[in-house]
Amino acid sequence: MEEFWACLYRPSGHPGPNYWTYFAERLAHLATISSEATLLDLGTCDGNVLFKAMKKVTARGYGIGIDIDYDDFYAGVAEAIRRGWKEKIAFVQMDANRIGFQTETFHTVLANFVGWDDYYDFDRMEFISSDKMVSEIMRILRPSGQVGIGTWVEQSDIDWIAEAFMKYLPEYKAASGKGIACYSKENPEGQKVILQNGGFDNIRVHVETTDFVSPYAGTWWRQMKHAANEYFRQVSDPEKLDGFKDQVFVDLHQFQYPEGIRFSKTVSFAFGTKPT
Ligand SMILES: C[S@@+](CC[C@H](N)C(=O)[O-])C[C@H]1O[C@@H](n2cnc3c(N)ncnc32)[C@H](O)[C@@H]1O
Repeated sequence: MEEFWACLYRPSGHPGPNYWTYFAERLAHLATISSEATLLDLGTCDGNVLFKAMKKVTARGYGIGIDIDYDDFYAGVAEAIRRGWKEKIAFVQMDANRIGFQTETFHTVLANFVGWDDYYDFDRMEFISSDKMVSEIMRILRPSGQVGIGTWVEQSDIDWIAEAFMKYLPEYKAASGKGIACYSKENPEGQKVILQNGGFDNIRVHVETTDFVSPYAGTWWRQMKHAANEYFRQVSDPEKLDGFKDQVFVDLHQFQYPEGIRFSKTVSFAFGTKPT
């Protein structure tokens, strides 16, 4: 993931990892991964979670990252070569709804920020379609193997810019028509239901909130144009966008600290094991 994303602020004053890296490390840390694990990272992108998780695995283990989109695999493969992990890691283009691995292949399956909203309505707390992703995860896990899924509960920066759109440019709406969108906003209660419904045991959920800092307003604005692209791409008039930016920068002062623009992000990590 690009380094321009907001970074964890350390009391030392030095910036920490960016939030993608930080939450990948948290998921890998909280998951049970044995040193000889065969591990699957679902929705791997550039292997962000896979590399963190594979730090727990010795030469006898193996890690595979799958993603429906292969564009970021190049960065992942380059990183595997750089680390000397070519024999330990593979990237495969694959849809998580139809995983092409045999039944009971993996000890651990991780899926960070992949989004369960195609199957589950987190507002109404009910399934909207059959949950093929969790069924596939259950199928490919070995008995007593563990799944770990990470989800966004709140991204206060994205929610705030979406609210600014509603306030200053109300003609531009979220594509979903459901108010604030841009990312799949989920919750720990829904994650529990998803794992219970999938037949998992020993379900535990871990929710955490962390502050991240963008050093400059200009960097933050570029981050928002990327993260809230759903709104920004609708504004074709540059003057309108400039006026909006001026207004947003005035309001942004409340989030300005000596180290930069600070917002919090809340995630929920849910774990379950396959019954033996
Ligand atoms: C927000 S990224 C998260 C990347 C990484 N897990 C992380 O935490 O940094 C979500 C990824 O899930 C992938 N994805 C979404 N639906 C998928 C599916 N059905 N099968 C495989 N990958 C999927 C997307 O292509 C994207 O790369």
